[in-house]
Amino acid sequence: MACVDGEWLLTPGPVAVHPEALKAMARQVVSHRSQAFRELLASVREKLARVYGGGEVLVLTGSGTLAVDSMAWSLVEPGERVLVVSHGEFGGRLAESLRRRGAVVETLEPPEPGAAVDAGEVAARLEQGGYAAVAMVYTETSLGLSYRDAETVAKAAREAGALVLVDAVSALAGERVPPPPLVDAVASASQKALAAPPGLSFVAVSEAALEKMAGLRSPPPPYLDLAKAAGFHRDRGETPFTPAVNLLYALDRALDLILEVGVEAWVERHERRARLLYEQLPRLGLEPVAVEPRYRANTVAAFYTPVPSSRLAAALARRCIRVARGMGELREKVVRISTMGWLGDEVYEQLPAAIEEALRGA
Ligand SMILES: Cc1ncc(COP(=O)(O)O)c(C=O)c1O
Repeated sequence: MACVDGEWLLTPGPVAVHPEALKAMARQVVSHRSQAFRELLASVREKLARVYGGGEVLVLTGSGTLAVDSMAWSLVEPGERVLVVSHGEFGGRLAESLRRRGAVVETLEPPEPGAAVDAGEVAARLEQGGYAAVAMVYTETSLGLSYRDAETVAKAAREAGALVLVDAVSALAGERVPPPPLVDAVASASQKALAAPPGLSFVAVSEAALEKMAGLRSPPPPYLDLAKAAGFHRDRGETPFTPAVNLLYALDRALDLILEVGVEAWVERHERRARLLYEQLPRLGLEPVAVEPRYRANTVAAFYTPVPSSRLAAALARRCIRVARGMGELREKVVRISTMGWLGDEVYEQLPAAIEEALRGA
């Protein structure tokens, strides 16, 4: 069965985009050195700042990895010590990016996948001193785990004089992510809880972050250089390089639609959908990967499956329901279901029955 238009896209990014945001893209391209573009960028930045809740928002053309790498390479210098709180795949990638930058990376990991790193342990390590930064992923998309202790860790980091870097790629607008100046940099992307097409990403930064990136002894490559982006935004209202103009049209409209709902109500929508899944799916033999309920993510719910995930995912795909499987060693053991994007509530209400049926045919 062909279900290209009718598929329920439940992967944790990209997600279903509102038709109005799609239509907004079909406008003529403008020069990124024109007044029309400066107005578009100002509009997107102002709306993103409202979603973030604070900080100076820098807009990049590229997927979430670009925002995370730019944050890592613009706020940490070779030789600096960084503590990475890592819960899974994306924590590992963050640590790897910092290592490639030449940082001396130490990681703190939980005793088992799905458990959360003890915030007291992170604070104790930071108290030892000598760290230039602490870095963490707010929502670890591979496990459906949201590190809701991020703010507690950030307070300890502040006292220890360390900057706080947060990968909120799959968290922004779906979780209550602490904004700058509570933390120093928050990286995110267009194709997750903002429900815009993939291809744009952004970092909201604090004054302290702006100061650090302006004084680096060894600046990063130009495309990763947030100080350069900040300079162009500030001095000219533009981006340093050719931006994806049409994606900005779409993002601008996608942000309007979220702001009409209200940021808190938009977060609650993800929370409500996730809660429904966490409540309903265990009776079908699907157990949440995130052990403690308080760390279970709003934007992506991950479950251990009673049958190999390839079979369950294929059985769902035959019903035009697209979910993601686990990552790395959990690939065959886990399914991941997104609550992001412009799908109606009925999708989540009907999903448990659809999974029950799929399990019978898996
Ligand atoms: C937490 C997290 N960080 C980084 C990324 C990378 O984003 P992208 O695939 O847009 O480069 C993802 C993508 O799923 C993510 O979930």
